[in-house]
Amino acid sequence: MKLETLAVHAGHAPDAATGAVTPPIHLSTTFERAADGSLPHGFIYSRYANPNRDSLERCLAALEGGTGAAAFGSGQAATMTVFQALQPGDHVVITEDAYFGTLKLVRELFEGRGISISLVDARSVASVEGAMTKATKLVWLETPSNPLLAITDIRAVAAIARKRGVRVVVDNTWATPVLQRPLELGCDLVMHSTTKYLGGHSDTLGGAIVGREDDELFTRIRALQTLGGAVPSPFESWLVLRGIRSLPYRMRGHCAHARAVAEFLERHPAVETVHYPGLRSHPAHAIASSQMSDFGGMLSVQVRGGAPAAPRVAARVELFTRATSLGGPESLIEHRHSVEGPGSRSPENLLRLSIGLEHPDDIIADLGQALG
Ligand SMILES: Cc1ncc(COP(=O)(O)O)c(C=O)c1O
Repeated sequence: MKLETLAVHAGHAPDAATGAVTPPIHLSTTFERAADGSLPHGFIYSRYANPNRDSLERCLAALEGGTGAAAFGSGQAATMTVFQALQPGDHVVITEDAYFGTLKLVRELFEGRGISISLVDARSVASVEGAMTKATKLVWLETPSNPLLAITDIRAVAAIARKRGVRVVVDNTWATPVLQRPLELGCDLVMHSTTKYLGGHSDTLGGAIVGREDDELFTRIRALQTLGGAVPSPFESWLVLRGIRSLPYRMRGHCAHARAVAEFLERHPAVETVHYPGLRSHPAHAIASSQMSDFGGMLSVQVRGGAPAAPRVAARVELFTRATSLGGPESLIEHRHSVEGPGSRSPENLLRLSIGLEHPDDIIADLGQALG
């Protein structure tokens, strides 16, 4: 089945008990056993599995083409679980332009506590390969990256890693399975912050790991999920599943609007650089085109006038909302350097834009007046 169809149907069907077309939310934490002690519906206790989470996980696995998925209470909980699944002595190669929170989590909670890391410029496959040691167990990629929209050649990294028995994880939050399917490109795990495009309405926090195989690593991730208990509530699971039903069509709008905005910004005299992989001027446009079906709703822009210019533009927007996060229907603007604080790698004149589903003419008009 095509992705649009999977997004609408995968993981659920009309409720067998009531005929409800939209799945009911199962708040029960515990499930009845039959007289012989068996579990007729397969559920025991909602930390282990809950019907709503189960539906969401089956849907996510179908969308990414994996064998299974584990849903979490946030994207960070999902990331944390992958690192917890490693063994003392393991080494990880991580793209240096990963989400700031990912790098903070790895540095503050794992580095030096049995896990060593190397940060690399993952635009270069040679840099990724060069950082691998005998102890390397995992490569963590995020492409397009946050906030510079740098692109990693997923196929090339996956091929190198496979030869060495190293697992590759892709944070696919920005691209979503609609635009990029890392498991098909040879990776082992996909990570999502479902808070973003999958939920799609800026009203639910969640995360997920999708596994290509039901192997030892994924079994350990599942054990960490159910024993550690960083799981989403039934309602959060329901909200993400509801969001996914319209995901492919929302992504079309996000992509079309972001492309129009990127083209407008590229021509604007107050703009120094636009980072958007859909632009021909993007240094990795060809690689992005070979692994993505479209280029997403996120872009960043460096404005002329140095450090003070970017917050000035952000202060003048009227339609955009000045807020962190991404992937909702509303356009958001953010000065990443000040939001990330000390240690930020974001250029000071950079603004990150999450392009929403408003009419692109209105989005462009607002940026036009803010840029002056
Ligand atoms: C690319 C990416 N990965 C992971 C996360 C973390 O997800 P969450 O905020 O749901 O914990 C974010 C959040 O902004 C993100 O943008």
